[in-house]
This record gives sequence, structure tokens and C-alpha cells, in this order.
Amino acid sequence: MERAEILSLLASIKEKIDVAKDMKELIEVKNSELGKKSKFMSEALESLNQLIRTAPVEEKKALGAFINEVKNDVLSHYENKERVLREEQEKASLLAEQIDISLPGENFYKGHKNPLYLIRDEIISFFTDLGYDVYSGPEIENDHYNFELLNTPKDHPARDMQDSFYIDERTLLRTHTSPVQARTMLKHPNTPVKMIAPGKTFRRDDDDLTHSHQFMQIECLVVDEGINLAHLKSTLEKFMHKIFGPKRTIKFVPSYFPFTEPSFEVNVSCAHCHGKGCNMCKGTGFIEVLGAGMVHPNVLRMCGYDEHRFSGFAFGVGVERLAMLRYGIDDIRRFYQNDVRFLKQFQEEYRK
Ligand code: PHE
Repeated sequence: MERAEILSLLASIKEKIDVAKDMKELIEVKNSELGKKSKFMSEALESLNQLIRTAPVEEKKALGAFINEVKNDVLSHYENKERVLREEQEKASLLAEQIDISLPGENFYKGHKNPLYLIRDEIISFFTDLGYDVYSGPEIENDHYNFELLNTPKDHPARDMQDSFYIDERTLLRTHTSPVQARTMLKHPNTPVKMIAPGKTFRRDDDDLTHSHQFMQIECLVVDEGINLAHLKSTLEKFMHKIFGPKRTIKFVPSYFPFTEPSFEVNVSCAHCHGKGCNMCKGTGFIEVLGAGMVHPNVLRMCGYDEHRFSGFAFGVGVERLAMLRYGIDDIRRFYQNDVRFLKQFQEEYRK
């Protein structure tokens, strides 16, 4: 191929590069005009290469320079065009993705706490304000902590009430948060304790309006020298009034727990019927919300305390019951169904 022919081929390739409208077209030009089998590569450069092989030495240098010039010329032309096209592409996509930040925002549904956790957190702050510590314990518990250390040995009839989900002979899903009492005392024997322990508990109850196989309790334990029933009673009264306000009637009813002596229950007048008796309160007008009592000396002793020096009170409260009574919720299972229509009703409570 003659030089003039090569130069005109070069010019025509450059022109094709110039007219490519986008990267796709440019690559097509590259493949057809600059690929291995293209006229430029297989004829033009090839003929120049052949020429250089046979040329006399004094011409070789000039020829070599010419070959490089031709190659660099077409290559830099191609690269320039490629850069221009990429810049254009970028500009176009930036333009397409532009956001108008002056447009009004879209409202989206904001979640909030389940009413159960609203009450739990309120109780936690009530007690931490009074200087209580917050503890937790395992949900899969050892029989030793769940029963034995709580003065409920094997075959004790009180176990029946809490007969539960066993994993093996000694391991079960805890039936109450009371094992956290034992765990806490054992950690620091003969040391004053003032603690609460919120958490999940499990019982093989038949589910009905006020019972669920899983529920939440908050345990409370105070041990020190000179703790007596008056401390427990005033703590409970303050606690109940905090949750229900001063209008609800609160009853202390004698009861029995193996780990407290004396023991009693606290009942609160039903939110539905205000004490008249209805389905929810099984006609009694009241609903039991917690069990309480003075820590049994056996429990203190087994948990490393000198029961002649120390005394204490404890109670365990069912959080669902509190929430049901406070908000007039008719079925305990609603807390766990995740029905947004139910949960939405507590949005305002959350904002308070
Ligand atoms: N653990 C008892 C229950 O779940 C409640 C309770 C706790 C009673 C502490 C007395 C003292 O029924």
C-alpha cells in the first residue's frame, strides 16, 4: 500500500470515529476498522512492516517513525472520542437522576413500641428511679434455680401449678422470673439487694383470654437488714398507683408461694366492668396481677444469706395483665399477633 493510500485510509477511519454517536457505534468502528482483520491492520500496517524489513538502513528510522505516527494518530483519535462519549454519557445520567429536593417528602409509617414494652419500660424507669438495679437471667433454666433454691423441692405440690416445658429432667423453660432472685443472691451472699428482673416466662397453661403459654414477668427483690411487710406494701401501693392512677381499687389477698412467707396476691379492679364482674375477670370484678411476699428464710439461707440478720420482700408481676388492665385490652394473645391495627392504637402512648 502506498503512503498516500495509507494516509487516506487513516483519514477515513478518523472520520468514522468522529461520526460515532455513542459507545456502541464507536466500538463497532473499532472492531471493523481497527480489528486484526481490518484493512488498516492487515493491509496498511502489514505493508509498512514488510517495507521496513527490506528497507535500507538509512530509511528504516524514518519508516519506523512513520509507522508509530500512524498508529498513535489513530489510537489517540479513538481515545479522545471515547473520553468525550463517556463524559456525555455521565452528564446525561446525572441529569436523569437529578432529584428535586424542593418536592414535599413522602410520609411513611413509623413503627413504635408494642404496648407490652411500653409498660415494661415504664416499670423499669419507675424502679431505677428508686435506685433498683436491673438484672436478667436465662430463659432456659435449671430446675435447681427455678424450683429447688426457691424452697420448692421435687414432688412439692406447688410445682403442679407451674408444670412446664421440660427440655430434659433438669432443664426447663423458666416458669417465672423468680430464679433471677436466687441467681442474684448467690452472686453476692450477705449483701443488700435491690433489684428488678424483667423477662419472658413460659407455662403449660391452656391459652385463654388472660393466659398465654408465653408471657412477661418482672421480678422484684429487696433484701437488707430490717426489711418488713410495710416496705413491701408501700412499694406495691406506689407501684400500682403509678401504673393505674389513684382511681383503680387495689386488693391485697392472702396467698401461698413456697418461696415467700407470708404471701399474698395483688388484685386490681377490672378495666372492663370496674369491679362488677364480667367475662374478662371471670365474674369476680378483679384481676390478679402479681404475687408477693416476704422472702422465705429457707430461700435466704440456701442463697448464701444469714437469715437471722437479713430479711427481704419479693414480688413477680405479669406485664401483659398490667397492660390489659391499663388499656382495656380484651385478649392476651393480641400482644403477640403483630396485628398492625392493634399496635397502631398505641402510637400516641409511645409519643408521650
Ligand atoms: N413467681 C411467682 C409466680 O410466678 C410470683 C412471685 C414472685 C410470688 C415473687 C412471690 C414472690 O407466680
